[in-house]
Amino acid sequence: MERRAFVRKCGMGCLGVLASSMFLPGCSGTRYVTGNIQGSFLSIKEDDFLNEDHDYLKHVVVQNDALQYPIVVFRLSTDNYKALLMKCTHQGTELQVFGDRLQCPAHGSEFTNTGSVQNGPADTELRSFPVIKELKTLKIDLS
Ligand code: FES
Repeated sequence: MERRAFVRKCGMGCLGVLASSMFLPGCSGTRYVTGNIQGSFLSIKEDDFLNEDHDYLKHVVVQNDALQYPIVVFRLSTDNYKALLMKCTHQGTELQVFGDRLQCPAHGSEFTNTGSVQNGPADTELRSFPVIKELKTLKIDLS
């Protein structure tokens, strides 16, 4: 392969990688944490929301092997958190988080960070869970 053709191919490859990263902002901006389950509570640390600059993230996604779907926790203010099951209410597809909203990859439903339907075909809000803050721990009530 000629040097010029090689450089052109590599350049196109780099552009492809750059373009794909631009179309996946939700993936790069989402932190996944493993929650601790004790009884009916799923617990995470408030510090799980802190980034390397000590700023608070808008949300984290909580996983645990015992959960069928992950739970996204939005930090609405210092003491106000919203925990939502990432299960689309249309046909049960796992949702994806993009900034302040959730999207369904199956048929395009969108939900707000409080679980309300923004765009159908889903017509029912997301299941939400109470969040109790105890010192630096957030306890999500799964009952
Ligand atoms: S399963 Fe989510 S919109 Fe259909």
